[in-house]
This record gives sequence, C-alpha cells and structure tokens, in this order.
Amino acid sequence: MQELFHRYQKRLNRADALKIPDFEEHGRLKHVIQADQFDRQLLDDLMETADLIRQLHRVHNGNRFLKDLLVEQRVMLYFTQASTRTFLSFMAACQMLGMSCNEIRDPVLSSEYKGESSFDSVRMFSGYFDMVIMRAVVPNLAECCAYMMNDLQSANQRNIPIINGGSGADEHPTQALLDIYTMQRAFSFDRIDDSSSGTYYDALREQYPDLKRGIDHKTVCFCGDLGRSRTVRSVVKLLLKYDDVRFIFIAPDHKSLRIGDDVKDMLRQHGADFHEAQSLDEVMEEVDLVYMTRIQHEHDNEVVKDFFDKTDFSPFKLTLERVQRMKRYAPILHPFPRLDEIPFEVDMDERALYFEQAINGMWIRAALIAHIFNVERKILSFYKKNFSGRHHYNEEVL
Ligand code: NCD
Repeated sequence: MQELFHRYQKRLNRADALKIPDFEEHGRLKHVIQADQFDRQLLDDLMETADLIRQLHRVHNGNRFLKDLLVEQRVMLYFTQASTRTFLSFMAACQMLGMSCNEIRDPVLSSEYKGESSFDSVRMFSGYFDMVIMRAVVPNLAECCAYMMNDLQSANQRNIPIINGGSGADEHPTQALLDIYTMQRAFSFDRIDDSSSGTYYDALREQYPDLKRGIDHKTVCFCGDLGRSRTVRSVVKLLLKYDDVRFIFIAPDHKSLRIGDDVKDMLRQHGADFHEAQSLDEVMEEVDLVYMTRIQHEHDNEVVKDFFDKTDFSPFKLTLERVQRMKRYAPILHPFPRLDEIPFEVDMDERALYFEQAINGMWIRAALIAHIFNVERKILSFYKKNFSGRHHYNEEVL
C-alpha cells in the first residue's frame, strides 16, 4: 500500500491552499477532503440549505420531495475506523435525500482481508456507486483516493466524489462543518425569551452590552487532547474564515497533547490572537464558547502512559461549578464520544449543546450532499413555491 501512496506524494506534499482546485469541478465541490475548501460564502450557503432541508423534512410533502431528489444515486459508506455519529448521520442524510446506502465497516469481511489494497477497493466502489464517504485510520487515504478519481477522470474513466469522514489524525472536515453550523445557530440568539417581553438577544444585551450576533469576534476555548484531535485542526481552519476570533487552548502539558505547531503556525499566518492556558479555571468567565475533547487513549504509547499516571486531569474537565461561571449564552460543544471530561449533570444546562451539535451533523451533511449533486436550487424553488414567506433566503448566493 505504501508504494501506492508514493504515486501521490508530490500532490500530498503541496500546501493545503494549492490542493483546493483538485477537489472542485465546475465551480463547486466535487471531493470533500480538507476543511479549508469551505469559504465563508459556501459555509453560509450550506447552512441556509441545511435550514431549508430541516424545515421541509418536517412536513409530509416536503419530506416526499426530499426523498425523490437523489433517488437514482447510490452511496458507499466505507468506514473502517470506529464511528457512531459520523457514520449514522451521513447515512440518515443520504436516506433523507433518497439515496440508497451500502456500507463496509469491517475490512475483515471484504477482500482487504485477502490482501487487497484500499485503493483497489475504492476504485471498485466507483464502478458500483455514485459517491464514497470514507473514514480510515490511515492518514491521507481519502485525499489519495480523490487524486485517484481525478486520474481516472483524466483517463476518461468513471470517477465519483470522495468524502472524508475522518482520516487518521489529520482532518475531519464535515465535523468542522457541523461545529460551525451549531455555533452559528447558537450565536444567532434568535430563540424566544420567556423571561422578558423582548427578544432573547435584547435580554442578553442588557447583561452583555457589546454582544454581537454571529461567530465573528468570539473567544473560543478548546480543551482536552488537542494535539491528537483532527476535529480541532479542522474546526480551527474554519474559524479562521471569521473575523477576529480569539483562541484559547488548554491541554495537559505534554507535547503530543498540546495544540500542534502546525495549528499554531496557521494561526500566526492569519494573525489570529491565541494563547495557551493551564486550566479551565483561568478562563470560564471570559470565553464565548467551550469546545471539549476526550483524551484519545487509542493513540497512547508507553511514554504518554507514564505521563498520564503522574498527571492530574481535573483542570481539563468541566464541573457544574465551572459551567455556572460561564457567560449565560456560551455554548458547550463536544465532537463526541465523551469520557469523563463533561459530567452528566452538565447535560441539563441550557448551554450544553453537544447533543444538538451531533444532530446538526445530519442536516448539514444533507446540505453538503445536495451541494455536491447540484440540487440546492431545486430545494430552494420547492421551498419558495410551497412555504414562501417563512424563511428569508439569499438567492444571489446560489
Ligand atoms: C471524533 C473523531 O472521530 O475524530 N469523533 C467524531 O467524529 N465525532 C472525535 C473523537 O473520536 O474523539
């Protein structure tokens, strides 16, 4: 398999920004491999489409319409690394749009058990299916499969979109999408306020006069095993598309767990304001959002294990007392799975948005698939015809 990676080495070694055109076709995404493929405009469009799908799905004729949209398309969910939410929410999103889904989760049950390479497997999938969504332990595998599809296209052979559902420790672009979607919804402050006659936003502004709607100008705190988290790397990339976001990173003091130098370099290049803190206690009052992550023990080696035995992890865990010190509106996110970094008693706090965040994954992934298969316009027209007046949609951006 290693020699197959060599074939793509030159393309892999390029700076991320130079790769983006390779993942696009006719001005829209074809493959989804890295988070910085999404610019601010595309993020806004996808979030709008997700909102529309969400509303259509609630009513019978909307639901029927969605089910018909991609009824001729077949998808392969090729998830050979453990997954619950990414796998299921992608599957639910595909089914909602009418696609038929197939899966390989355990390579022992495929020809890979007999020594077949993942590249041959994916090339075979491209004959049977119209899209592959994949998660692998091997870093860069999805990216190389996208290059393989591009080479097939140059040779006038059948080729299909590749979606990265988490690859090695490098990237998890669709997790970043749902994180941003959750932040955008939380920071729109548009729910009804039951405690006053004004809006929720008005009520918040009494307490926080400088508070603005949206993700711009927020202070975001990441806590946990940051060095080994592909979700953190991907969502930081997306947060850099917003204006003046401040970053605080809190991780156990070990090189493999602290935020990586590659992420810090990226933040410096963007002139972003960031710093590292030692404990959640230092920052609870000042942050607009806390993004918790678990310690990823599956990557432990002997050196890290030794460090863990001597380390007090309490500075990196939420407690009800810490949550109560946070701003009233500040969401708590977590990509899941959680271990003990968020105790169950926090789940009932209105700032705990992690379950909602996981559900948002289904809607935004449906929007992403609609974008790739170029059916957003159909969704908008159907919505306008049947539900106009309920939602303001920025048509110019489509
Ligand atoms: C994350 C992942 O797999 O990278 N989970 C997810 O997709 N929601 C985070 C993790 O495993 O800790």
